Amino acid sequence: MSIYSTSDNYKADAFVLPLFEEETLSKDMNVLDETFGGAISRALELKDFEGKKLQTAFLYTGNKETPRVLLIGLGKKKDLSVRMWKQAIGASVVALQGKKYTALSLYISGDITSKFGTKKIARQTVLAAGLASYAFDEYKSEKDARVVEMKSLAFLNITGSEKRAWQSGMEDGEKMSDAINETRRLANTPPTIMTPVFLAKAAQKIGKLFPSIKVSVLGKAEAKKLGMGCFLGVAQGSALPPQFIVMEYMGGKKTEKPTVLVGKGITFDSGGLSLKPSAYMTDMKFDMLGAATVLGTVRAAAALGLKKNIVALMPACENMPGGESYRPDDILVNMEGKTVEIGNTDAEGRLILCDALSYAKKYQPKEVIDFATLTGACMVALGNERSGLFSQEETMIEKLMKSSEETGEQLWRLPLGEEYTEAIKSEVADVANVGDVGGRGYAGASTAAAFLEFFTKNVETGESAYPWAHIDLSCSYYGGKGKPWIRHGANGFGIETMIEYLA
Ligand code: BES
Ligand code: MN
Ligand code: ZN
Repeated sequence: MSIYSTSDNYKADAFVLPLFEEETLSKDMNVLDETFGGAISRALELKDFEGKKLQTAFLYTGNKETPRVLLIGLGKKKDLSVRMWKQAIGASVVALQGKKYTALSLYISGDITSKFGTKKIARQTVLAAGLASYAFDEYKSEKDARVVEMKSLAFLNITGSEKRAWQSGMEDGEKMSDAINETRRLANTPPTIMTPVFLAKAAQKIGKLFPSIKVSVLGKAEAKKLGMGCFLGVAQGSALPPQFIVMEYMGGKKTEKPTVLVGKGITFDSGGLSLKPSAYMTDMKFDMLGAATVLGTVRAAAALGLKKNIVALMPACENMPGGESYRPDDILVNMEGKTVEIGNTDAEGRLILCDALSYAKKYQPKEVIDFATLTGACMVALGNERSGLFSQEETMIEKLMKSSEETGEQLWRLPLGEEYTEAIKSEVADVANVGDVGGRGYAGASTAAAFLEFFTKNVETGESAYPWAHIDLSCSYYGGKGKPWIRHGANGFGIETMIEYLA
C-alpha cells in the first residue's frame, strides 16, 4: 500500500501548511485556525511567520488530532515556480523527519492546483516528498542516528472533482521517486562495493522487476572483440573487470527508432596515472552518476509504461593508477578505428563514452543524449544547481530546456564550436583527449563536449550519424548541509527532465 493518500482527516503527527507572503487566511483556513486554537493567525499577527521563501514556523495547536503545525513559506504568489514549490515540500519533509514525525499531512490550496494543473502538481508534490524523505544512512550503526521513515503523507483539501487527477499524478510521482531514489542509492554506495559488476547486477535486478526491460552485459572479452580500445584502455589500470551494460525498453512501435541514452559509469575516478590531488579525489564515487541516471530513466519509463523505445548504454569501469594503467602519450583506438592521443589519463570519461557513442550507431537512433559527470570546468562555470547542456540541434535544445523548466531541474546551454574542435586536434592521432582554448585548461567543458561530438560523426562522411545532445552533470550531487529540501549526496538530477522529454 502506498504511503500517499488524499484525506479529509487532519489527524497526523504534524500538519504542513504552505503559505504565500502577505497571505490572508481564506475562509477554510480560518476554520482550521479555530480548531488549532488560533495558533496560525497568532503567528501571522506577531509576524513570526511572513511566508518568505522557505521560512518555517513550528506551532503547537492544543488540538489532540493535529498537535503540531508547520508553516512553510512560498514567497510571493506571482513568483511561485514548480521548483520553489518542490523545495517547500522537500524542506517540510526533511524538517519533520528531523523531529522524528512519521505521519504527516499537507494542505493543498486551490491556488496551487489551478496554477499548475492538478495531475502535474500531484506528481511533483509526491516526487519532492519522496526525494526529501530519502537518506543515505544505512551505514550508520546506531538506529537512532538514522532518519525516521515517512510512514504516511495525506493530502488535504483535494476537492471531489480533482481527486482522480490527483490520484493518477500521485501514482506517477511515486514511481518516479522510487526510480530516482534508486539512482541516488547506487551513486551513494561506497566505491569498493559499487563496482562495474555491482552496477551491472543492479541493472539486471531492474530487468527482473520490470520484464519490459531487456538487460545485457558485455564483458571484457566481448568489448575487446568489438574493438572498444578507448573503453578498455581506461579500464586496464583497475583490478576490476569492466562491464558494458545495455538496457533496452521497447515500449513504442516496432518501427519507431529508439532514443539512445548514454551514461558515464566510472565507479571511481582516481585520475589514473595523472593522479588527482587528494582534495579532488573525494566524491569521485559519484563518477558513475551518468550511468545511474540513464538506468533510473529506463526504470522510470518502464514503471510509467511510456510508449517509447529507449536504449541505455552504460560503459562501466574504474580509473586507477597501477603497473597496467594506460599512460599519457598512449594512443588508443576506438571501436570505429578513430585514434586518440592521451594527454591526461584523468580525462577518462570522454574515452569510455566515445566507444558507447560509436556503439549507439548500430541502433540507427532517432537521437542520442549522453549524461556524464564529465568536467570540473562545468562545475566551475555553473555551480551545483544547474547542469551544462551542449548540442547543435536547436530542436533538441529547445525541447530539453522546456522539459527541464517543467520539472524545476535547471539546464544551461554551453557552446560547441570550431575553436573547441580545433583545440582537441592532435599531432599524432585523430584527436587528443585534452585541449583548451587560450591555455590553462580554459573552456574545459566545451572541449570535452567537442571531443564527444567527433564520435557522433560518420567515419567516412564526417556527417552526424544522429542528432545528439550532451549533458555535463555538474549538479548531480550536493555536498554538505546547504539545501534544506534534500539531503547531501547524489540528487538524481536529470531523470525527471528525461522522462518529461520522452513522454
Ligand atoms: N570526473 C571528472 C570530472 C568531475 C570533477 C566531475 C569534479 C565532478 C566533480 C573527470 O573525469 C575529470 O577528471 N575531468 C578533468 C578533465 C581534465 C583532466 C581535462 C577535470 O575536469 O579536471
Ligand atoms: Mn577524471
Ligand atoms: Zn571522471
